[in-house]
Amino acid sequence: MTTRRRILVTSALPYANGAIHLGHMLEHVQTDIFVRFQRLQGHECIYVCADDVHGTAVMLNAQAAGQTPLDYAAEITKAHIQDFQSFQISHDCYETTHSKDNEQLSAEIYSRLLASGNIEKAAVEQLFDTEKGLFLADRFVVGGCPACKTPEQYGDNCDACGATYAATDLIDPRSKLSGSKPELRTSEHIFFALSKHTEFLKNWTQSGALHPAVTNKLSEWLDTGLQNWDISRDAPYFGFEIPDAPGHYWYVWFDAPIGYIATTEQWAKKNGGSFADWWCSEDKNHPRAEIHHFIGKDITYFHTLFWPAMLQIAGMNLPTKVRVHGFLTVNGQKMSKSRGTFLLARSYLDHLNPAALRYYYATKLSGGIDDIDLNLEEFTTKVNTDLIGKFINIPSRTSGFVGKFFNHELMPSTLIKSEEGLVILKKIKDAKKVVDEYYEAREFSKLVKFIMQLIEELNEYISKTEPWKLAKEEGQLKTNSSLHEICSVSLKSFRALSIFLTPIIPNLCEKIAAFYGEEFFNSFNLIEDDVIKI
Ligand code: MSP
Ligand code: ZN
Repeated sequence: MTTRRRILVTSALPYANGAIHLGHMLEHVQTDIFVRFQRLQGHECIYVCADDVHGTAVMLNAQAAGQTPLDYAAEITKAHIQDFQSFQISHDCYETTHSKDNEQLSAEIYSRLLASGNIEKAAVEQLFDTEKGLFLADRFVVGGCPACKTPEQYGDNCDACGATYAATDLIDPRSKLSGSKPELRTSEHIFFALSKHTEFLKNWTQSGALHPAVTNKLSEWLDTGLQNWDISRDAPYFGFEIPDAPGHYWYVWFDAPIGYIATTEQWAKKNGGSFADWWCSEDKNHPRAEIHHFIGKDITYFHTLFWPAMLQIAGMNLPTKVRVHGFLTVNGQKMSKSRGTFLLARSYLDHLNPAALRYYYATKLSGGIDDIDLNLEEFTTKVNTDLIGKFINIPSRTSGFVGKFFNHELMPSTLIKSEEGLVILKKIKDAKKVVDEYYEAREFSKLVKFIMQLIEELNEYISKTEPWKLAKEEGQLKTNSSLHEICSVSLKSFRALSIFLTPIIPNLCEKIAAFYGEEFFNSFNLIEDDVIKI
């Protein structure tokens, strides 16, 4: 018996400022596959997520829609939850970052940062939109690139030459909100003293929590030393006001990851225990639970530098793994509204089956951070040829005979005598170890390839033994005849393979389970069963 692990899993919290698209879904599908696998292994695994509702973008969108930020976000969150459910994403709890629990936990963590001397104040010069009455985030300013002079560039980096700079360096800056020329103004901001923790982070990023490709990327950054991190924004801002600093709000990226803890607490309130069962332990070398974050590569710094430093100072457990994935492209291109390749989850669902996309994503995902291309032609081929043509083909080729000639009963495995049949059954049983390893390492493309190979071998076995020919020979139709054996080997194997694929295509596998008179495949141990009825 392996010991029962306790595993907390998260996907990044989607902003409540737009619909879920297929890039978000890439993240939630892979997280969900991992979670479902852990549950099938018999581990205690909870999957929490929430909408990230704070920040300027939500505030301005709400304004434009004539709504309060909370009302605006609530509608979006509702739609997000529906999209995730339609894709069979099995969150145990899906909340919002604008909750009492999150506000309290943020205050608690902030006070620990303060008490340990990790909070500093400094004056910051920023562009201020006098018409709108607010400081402008980098993305809300456009102007000429200070390096190559290309006009109409955003305030953080240049699309033309790739230079990064401060918004205050732009030539002739303009507010994207009002079109007016912003004024330079100074205000006091609150900083988290990240620079003090460079050494700690150098060690932590090499401790095995990250894929080597991520560690390498971060080491470039860590080698030049870290800057302190600005964690406050001035009013007007949609967020939590900082307790000892009226008119100053926590920057959305301060309270968003704390939302992981708050959501755990909200789950615990309904299911027993508290967030501390998952996030705190006396003995830091033996945490009571594992914490796995799934995130896209664009938010790596927040999760692998800022977040572990915050947790460490607050005396909480560090992530066991931060699993970073690449970006989804469509037919080799960045998703783009103007090119019509910005695919929303809802539009997909209007036309296609979620199982097909879940399967396709699994065939593309690896443990690393490479981008993943949704190629529409390949998508069609993989689904039609592999999933339907090869996998579903197994019962289509064999189950009819079992119904027609053998009263829906399979042969007990002990009676199977042919060398070929025994080899296949053993191979499939032995496959479990490999399947486990690939799931655990998030090597889903290798996993699907491996299972597809078993499916191909099974199809070859069927083609070679030609059960349809045997079905025409009068003498062959007895119980325990070779026809019965071929069909039994095929259908026992098909069931085991379906159990292996359950984390990837749960709904389809639920239908397959029903075909065997079972409600749902809820454990990998079920492959040991000797099913005899279909
Ligand atoms: N709100 C923050 C996360 C806070 S976590 C404490 C955020 N939200 S987001 O909506 O912009 O992105 C949510 C997740 O979706 C991120 O992990 C992001 O990397 C991922 N993706 C967004 N677009 C994506 C693709 N095109 N492809 C793959 N993942 C992408 O960031
Ligand atoms: Zn430039």
